[in-house]
Amino acid sequence: ALDNGLAHLAGQKIVITAGGTREPIDPVRFLTNRSSGKMGYALAEAANTAGADVTLIATVQRDCSANINVRIAESAEAMLQAVQEEMVDTNVFISAAAVSDYRLKEPFTDKVKKQGDDDGLTLNLVQNPDILKTVGMAKKPGQIVVGFAAETKDLLANAKAKLSKKNADMIVGNDVTKAGAGFDQDTNVVTMVRPEQDPVEEGPASKLNIAKAILNQVVKIQEMQ
Ligand code: C5P
Repeated sequence: ALDNGLAHLAGQKIVITAGGTREPIDPVRFLTNRSSGKMGYALAEAANTAGADVTLIATVQRDCSANINVRIAESAEAMLQAVQEEMVDTNVFISAAAVSDYRLKEPFTDKVKKQGDDDGLTLNLVQNPDILKTVGMAKKPGQIVVGFAAETKDLLANAKAKLSKKNADMIVGNDVTKAGAGFDQDTNVVTMVRPEQDPVEEGPASKLNIAKAILNQVVKIQEMQ
C-alpha cells in the first residue's frame, strides 16, 4: 500500500540535498561533519522508484540509480546556488544535507604550513546561508518543502520550532543519540512533524523504508492541498 501511494509522485520533480557540506580551509583541507549522505541517497532512490524526476544535490558521490540526476556541490554556498537553480520548476524540496552553520571568512589560497612557534592557529568563521529557510521563505504555492532536525535532546520541541522558523511543510526529526538512528548508519528512527498534525513516528527501519515513509507523508500533504 505504501509503494502504491507513492505513484502520486510519478512525473513530479523532486530535489533532494545530501551529505555534510565541506567548507574549505585551504586547497587541501575542509571543515565538515559526520553526515554520510545515506538518508538523502535513500530518499532519491525511493522517489526515483516511484517514478519521480529526481535531482540529488550532494556533497559526496555514492552509488545510485543511473537516472537520478546527481549534482555535486561541496560547500553550503555552492549547494544554495545549485538548489536555487533547480527550484524554479520543482514540486518537492527535501533538505537532508547536514549544512555547516559556519565557513571560513577567508579560506587560505595556499596550503597552510605549520608555524615554527607554538602560538596556535585561529580560524575566523562567518555564518553560512540557511538553505532550507531561504527555500522555505521563497516557496511558491504548491511547492512542498521538507527539512530535517538532527537533535540530541528536546526533539519534538526543536522540530516544531523549525517548522515555523524555516516555513517548512514538514520537519523530520531524528534523535541522533538513539540506537539505530543517526550518522553513517543504514537505519534510522524518525518523528515526522507537520503543522496542526499529530507527530508520526517511523523506525527503527532501513533508511530506504524511512525514505518511503517520508515520501508517503509528502503525498498526504499534497492530497490535503
Ligand atoms: O537549524 P538546523 O541546522 O538544525 O536545521 C536543520 C535543517 O535545515 C536540515 O534540513 C538542513 O538541511 C537545513 N539547513 C540548511 N542550511 C543551513 C543549516 C541547516 O539548509 N545552513
